[in-house]
Order: sequence, then structure tokens, then C-alpha cells
Amino acid sequence: MFSLTGNSKNIIDIKRLINRAAEYQLPVLITGECGTGKEVVARSIYSKKGSGEFVAVNCSAIPKELVESELFGYEKGAFTGANSNKKGKVEAAEKGVLFLDEIGELELSVQPKLLRLLQEMEYTPVGSTKIKKADFRLVCATNRDLHKMVKQGSFREDLFYRINGLTINVLPLRERVKDIPVLLELFLKKYSDIYNKKGLTFSEKTVRSLKEYDWPGNVRQLQTYVEREVCFADDKIISHIPDSMLISKRNKERTFDLKQIEKETIIRCMKKNKNNIKLSSELLGISRASLYRKIKEYDIEV
Ligand SMILES: Nc1ncnc2c1ncn2[C@@H]1O[C@H](COP(=O)(O)OP(=O)(O)OP(=O)(O)O)[C@@H](O)[C@H]1O
Ligand SMILES: [Mg+2]
Repeated sequence: MFSLTGNSKNIIDIKRLINRAAEYQLPVLITGECGTGKEVVARSIYSKKGSGEFVAVNCSAIPKELVESELFGYEKGAFTGANSNKKGKVEAAEKGVLFLDEIGELELSVQPKLLRLLQEMEYTPVGSTKIKKADFRLVCATNRDLHKMVKQGSFREDLFYRINGLTINVLPLRERVKDIPVLLELFLKKYSDIYNKKGLTFSEKTVRSLKEYDWPGNVRQLQTYVEREVCFADDKIISHIPDSMLISKRNKERTFDLKQIEKETIIRCMKKNKNNIKLSSELLGISRASLYRKIKEYDIEV
């Protein structure tokens, strides 16, 4: 796993939040599309902690009957097959970080068990009568819209507020284009070392095209792209982009993307007015506050 890399406003803000959050025990909720780097963010929160373990639990991978024994552990004889005591993830994460990945997939019926743990910071292993104290930093991640799930009744509101002490939203790669060259370099270096290929670079034109591509699989897709190109490179200069990626880009160009048009208009306007917010907002016919909000939303560099 890599450390959190990028120089877009989004990544810089996230690093700042992580540093701030390190001083407190607030639970952190990390949101973002698939492959944006939510786990990288979670591990980077852990790296500031300096004690205990990083224990990851993938909520979508545990059948609901096993959630309790997985989290809380069990005692010998608690059920058929329980031949010895087993520590749960909560105990394993003592003084460290408990990372509940894909928290949005946790079945409604088991959500109260988690809520109880977070409220009391106490739990009872399956088949035991002894209450144990829990002590961990909670970090959750999801690519689902939990707000919407709460409204639809598939995620408990009380649990949502419990896990959402601080939200970190990792933007999709297409909204932080500035990170693309940096990440290309990072992975190029890594895979050049692994595959023992020296002196590889991307052509400028390729980097430009890759910055325009919409990366539906985000950083994970970019990483796989670089690995493949390094493997197959016959030339020192990489200038190949798979057809599948070109088609997707062309489709994007054909659609009318209002947000993209708005973003580009703001960038042009700000440039013209040398980043003067007052002038730009007047010219765009919106308030200064909305202009600030949009600059933040679109991750526009000013
Ligand atoms: N900012 C970053 N710096 C370095 N590597 C990154 C960054 N973001 C993502 N990666 C790399 O991209 C891959 C995907 O990241 P990660 O697993 O954290 O994404 P995710 O958001 O948890 O994805 P999913 O929603 O599919 O679980 C990993 O191999 C990770 O090392
Ligand atoms: Mg993940």
C-alpha cells in the first residue's frame, strides 16, 4: 500500500484533516467512489497513531450470522466448531484502529450490535458472560450514499451519527486532475523497479490525454494501467493508451456535462480576472459565497 500521494486541493485538505483528527478520538467516516483511495486514507490516519494494530473488517464479506463472533470473538463451546477461545477484531484493535470497510453493506439487522458497542465501548464475546472494555479508534469507509440510505431506511440514523464524527470525502480522480501526473510518476517508479525496466517516461501528449480521461475506476484503474504499460513497454517513452479508454473519453466528449461546463467557465472567468473573487462573481452573476463553494466543490486551483 502506498502513502497518500497527491497535490490537489482535495488531497492537501485531507492531509490537513488527518493531522488535526490525530489529536482527537472522533470516529472518521471516509466516503468516495471505488478505487479513490479510501483505505489509503484510513491507513494514513492509523500511521499518526503510533500504537496498537490496524484491523480491517470488510463488512460486505461477513455473513450476518457471523458478525458478532467476528467482531467480539467467542468462547470455547459457544457453538459447534468453537473448539477454543477466539479473539474478535475489536480486541485485536485494542489501542489501534478498527477499520470498518464498506460499512454501507452492513445488514440492518446487525447494525444495533455495532451501535451498542460504539455507545458503551463494551462488548460480550459470544458464549461468554464477561463484559469486556473496548478501546479503539473507529474509522469507517463507504462508497454508498449513507444519507440517502438513512432516508430510505436501510441504514440506522443513530448509527450514522455515531460513526460520522468527521467526514473525509475523497474526490474521484477526474475531479482532481492535478494528481494524475504525480500518481503516474509514483506508479511508474514502483513498477519500473519491480519489473526492472529503467528510464521509462510517459510522453507529454499521453499525460495530456490521461488528464482528460474520466477514470471510472479512479486511482486503482490508473495504477493497473501503469503496471500494464510498464510490462509491455518496448520503447523508453510510453505513448500507448488502450482503445477501451479512448472510447470512454470520446463518449464523454459527446455528452453535455453541465457541471464540466460550469467548472470550465469559472476557471476561465477567474483567470481573466486574475483570481479576483469579487469581480469574477459579479461577472458570473452569482454571490461571492456561491463562487467560493463552487471553487471548493470543483477543486479549482486559485
Ligand atoms: N492518493 C493515493 N496515493 C497513492 N496510492 C493510492 C492513492 N489512492 C489510491 N491509491 C492506490 O490505489 C489503489 C486503490 O486504493 P484503495 O484500496 O485505498 O481504494 P478504495 O477507495 O478503498 O477502493 P474500494 O472502494 O474499491 O474499496 C490502492 O492500490 C492504493 O495503493
Ligand atoms: Mg477499499
